[in-house]
Amino acid sequence: MSIKVLALVGSLRKGSLNKVLVQTAAEEAPAGMEITIFPLNDLPLYNTDVETAGLPESVVALHEAIKNSDAMILATPEYNGSFSGVLKNGIDWASRGGGILAKKPVVTMGGSPGALGGTKAQEHLRAVCLHLGMYLLPKPTVAVPHFGKKIEDGKLTDDQTREFIGGQMAAFEEWINRFK
Ligand SMILES: Cc1cc2nc3c(=O)[nH]c(=O)nc-3n(C[C@H](O)[C@H](O)[C@H](O)COP(=O)(O)O)c2cc1C
Repeated sequence: MSIKVLALVGSLRKGSLNKVLVQTAAEEAPAGMEITIFPLNDLPLYNTDVETAGLPESVVALHEAIKNSDAMILATPEYNGSFSGVLKNGIDWASRGGGILAKKPVVTMGGSPGALGGTKAQEHLRAVCLHLGMYLLPKPTVAVPHFGKKIEDGKLTDDQTREFIGGQMAAFEEWINRFK
């Protein structure tokens, strides 16, 4: 059976290492799991005035993509000890879609050039997922340290990390199926 997973990446830059993580997850995912990235580039900053005037097209597209997904991946860099404002803005807009995030199976991942792999960012992100009533995969978590050294030409080259991400996706599949 196919599983549609929507991924949000909290970095807008073309060469984002966290985007490579999600691409690796797509490559290592179990057969039948389809992972698509929804780009957050076109979302305006959240503003209730904008929302009241009529939802921007990009926000409507985000809401539709979430409704049409079975599960979500949230991938984030660590910025100043937390997850990125870009991702928070995406989550804030998503949370204005009439409860579409509640009960949605979700997994977080991230990496950083530092020694800790952005674990603090994910702790904060995971707290937000729980606040929203999302069904957060308890473990394994993916936080990749010294990230830059493990990527060549936009590909994650470290076999151990690839395997670990594959393992997380296998656990995620099992987790998603619990709620189907
Ligand atoms: C404003 C800013 C703050 C950052 N703060 C942290 C941090 O607290 N911890 C960390 O490990 N890396 C930090 N970094 C480094 C990012 O983890 C690194 O730039 C990462 O590659 C960004 O993710 P991306 O490759 O997906 O764009 C920071 C980078 C920026 C631009």
